Amino acid sequence: MIEAILLVGGQGTRLRPLTATTPKPMLPVAGQPITVHQIRRARAAGVGRVVLGTSYRADVFTRALGDGADLGIDVAYAHETTPLGTGGAIRNAAEELNCGPNDPVVVFNGDIINGLDIAALVDGHVSSGAAVTLHLTTVEDPRRYGLVPTDETGRVLTFLEKPETEAEIVTNQINAGCYVFRRSVIDRIALGRPVSVERETFPGLLRDGDLVRGVVDDSYWLDLGTPWDYVQGSVDLVTGRAPGAQIPSSAQIRGGQSLVLDGANVSPEATLSGGTTIDRGCVVAADAIVDGCVVMTNVHIGQGARLFRSAVGAGAKIEAGAVITEAVVGDGARIGRDAVIGAGARIGVGAVVPDGITVTANSD
Ligand code: GDD
Ligand code: MG
Repeated sequence: MIEAILLVGGQGTRLRPLTATTPKPMLPVAGQPITVHQIRRARAAGVGRVVLGTSYRADVFTRALGDGADLGIDVAYAHETTPLGTGGAIRNAAEELNCGPNDPVVVFNGDIINGLDIAALVDGHVSSGAAVTLHLTTVEDPRRYGLVPTDETGRVLTFLEKPETEAEIVTNQINAGCYVFRRSVIDRIALGRPVSVERETFPGLLRDGDLVRGVVDDSYWLDLGTPWDYVQGSVDLVTGRAPGAQIPSSAQIRGGQSLVLDGANVSPEATLSGGTTIDRGCVVAADAIVDGCVVMTNVHIGQGARLFRSAVGAGAKIEAGAVITEAVVGDGARIGRDAVIGAGARIGVGAVVPDGITVTANSD
């Protein structure tokens, strides 16, 4: 039985206002929290116990997941009263591990969906004898990520987190946010102070001459850290472009393209498309169009409203005729009749946009 650590303590700043109430890993994709999706995938790969490294809004995780019995896996928690960074969080979570010093421990960033063969990554790690094995993927623009060049044997040469100069962009191969550590290597990380695994631990291992391997796997991969990538991730799960969606048995897939969860009331005259999810308790009135969106619980969408590639927080009210395009609407907000919310706009939790008003991008 393999143990895993899930890093779920970040503030989710780029996903505000959605993360004002819900930590990023608990935001729903295809009708279930990202964390639940990740735990199910890990379990299918042979992980039997997972330690959640929590900090921001830890209560939301414990309330939703408890001891993991509903997911058929053992869930434990390691809480940081002040955030310890990615490396500090891994070290802190290791206090809750049961495995021995030579056993493999899988570590996941809590905002990733992917098609990675996790079991194969673990097997390769064990047979190579590496200190750490990293899942790498290739992207067109690597600047938002950690760059990880390797030699022809897969040995990691250097680690360049969020490069700032053109000269540092030596590869489009990036850290995909899933690692396998030899347990004893985690125990070498300093306990109780902030540590970045990307900026401190990995470069330190390379300096010490430890074998750090990178395995390039170009199956589906997405970091859901921005609103646009978050919505895209959910859409990709609903449409099947991203593998491993667990659609609740009570939900309906409409036209193979959209997901309506149990207890939502969608008018037969409304049009859902493009991988939209309509969550529990929502009401969607006639002639509304919802294309490529995440609509969280208990949202009301009025007659003829049109929503495109947007995320709408729980309990929001979208009045008749409103148009929302590539925007984020916080929980409980009210978008007035015929209001227009433009690309990149973020409407705060509980905010009220008066009837007929146009809102354009205000921040990013
Ligand atoms: N417990 C805990 N404590 N978790 C944390 C902390 C902390 O102090 N800081 C961040 N996390 C968690 C976040 O919740 C998230 O799940 C994960 O660690 C990664 O943090 P992000 O904020 O999403 O990092 P990133 O996307 O900018 O960069 C990371 O991921 C990229 C791949 O998506 C880095 O690992 C990059 O190297 C990598 O390319
Ligand atoms: Mg991220």
